[in-house]
Parts: sequence; structure tokens; C-alpha cells
Amino acid sequence: GAPVEVDASKLEMGQRVVAEWRGQPIWVVRRTDDMIANLDKLNGELKDPQSKEDQQPPYAANEWRSIKKEYLVLIGICTHLGCSPLFEEEPTVELKYGGFFCPCHGSKFDLAGRVYQGVPAPTNLVVPPHSYVSDAVIIVG
Ligand code: FES
Repeated sequence: GAPVEVDASKLEMGQRVVAEWRGQPIWVVRRTDDMIANLDKLNGELKDPQSKEDQQPPYAANEWRSIKKEYLVLIGICTHLGCSPLFEEEPTVELKYGGFFCPCHGSKFDLAGRVYQGVPAPTNLVVPPHSYVSDAVIIVG
């Protein structure tokens, strides 16, 4: 499939835009400073906090999993059985700092797409290959 361009420049802080690449949903979330700071607090509750085990671009193998900390880019498909997790920008009962909740079998991911311990999804949400053509315009693919 052809690369797809996502213009995140008009995205408000804490919000998400959805695009499509190779028939898959692509999520871009513009993370606030608080969202970024909270990632560090969750490491003890996650299966793979440094994202070492996933097949992914090298810039995703860290806590924030993106090229720029402000912009998270993910394939929006649960790594368990392929449902579409819900974006929770605010804290919920399941996600104290927000994140993504899969309604199919209850998998939980933080705002870097990192999977929590004790849920069926085996790995973090997938980071697609991406790059920047300007400050906030992203090419996925
Ligand atoms: Fe998401 Fe099963 S498909 S938890």
C-alpha cells in the first residue's frame, strides 16, 4: 500500500486523529506534557515497558514509542484478536492515566500503546513505520 500523509498540526492537545493505511486504522495522538510524564509511572504495571519484544521501528523501543514524544502513532488494532480498542483520553476505572481499552476481552494499553500485565493481549500496540515531512505532518508507510 502507498504511504499516507497525516496532518496533525490542527490536532488539539490530548486529542486523536484517525487515518487509514493498508486497510488498517492509524491513530495519531497529540500527547500533553502530563500524558508524557505519566508514562514513566506505569512501567511496573506493563508487560514490556521498554517495548523490546515487538517487531517495530527502532524509534519505538522506549517508553514513549515514537519519534517525537508529543505525537504517538499507532496501528489501532488490538494485538489479542484484532478488535478496535477505545481511546480514553481521561482517566477511567481501568486506566488511571487514560489510554486504550479493548472492549472485546478487556485488554488495556497506556498512552504509548503499551500493554498492561494481566490482560489477554500479548504485546504492545504496533507502531507503524513513519517519518515527518514538517513539524506535525507525518508520513505513515
Ligand atoms: Fe482486544 Fe481480545 S481482541 S482483548
